[in-house]
Amino acid sequence: MADDINIGLEQSAREQVAAGLSTLLADTYAVYLKTHGYHWNVKGPNFGALHALFLEQYTEVWTAVDTIAERIRALGAFAPQGYRTFANLSGVQDGDPDQAWEAMLQELIADHEALIAGARKVRAAAEDVADDATTSLIDDRVLAHEKHAWMLRASLGRR
Ligand SMILES: [Fe+2]
Repeated sequence: MADDINIGLEQSAREQVAAGLSTLLADTYAVYLKTHGYHWNVKGPNFGALHALFLEQYTEVWTAVDTIAERIRALGAFAPQGYRTFANLSGVQDGDPDQAWEAMLQELIADHEALIAGARKVRAAAEDVADDATTSLIDDRVLAHEKHAWMLRASLGRR
């Protein structure tokens, strides 16, 4: 049934992009949650610096969650909500609160890398249907996650 939303994008295109954004939202939420958990649980000689870095990163990612969800709504779909729903959509695994700080950083780097790869796939789908507002939103997310990944790598002494 047609949904009577006239923003210049076919319903099927809007639904396809919204589905991709729903996965991106769930992965983004999972990375937010893990980063906040590591803010609480990290330990070691770099505690202060990592506690602060994680705070900065989870705050940025938390803000982005709302932007992605509201883009899904603007496309006429419902934003997924709830831990179980997010867990079913996301490929990000829960973190281990008792692991070494280096392992926390490695894991977050891999999560950001996976998020970036997923975001690029959604971007390609949005580009196919000329949904420029979504491609622009995703460009902002890729920029942010690439920066987060760099800072995590640098904290491990990597380039
Ligand atoms: Fe805190």
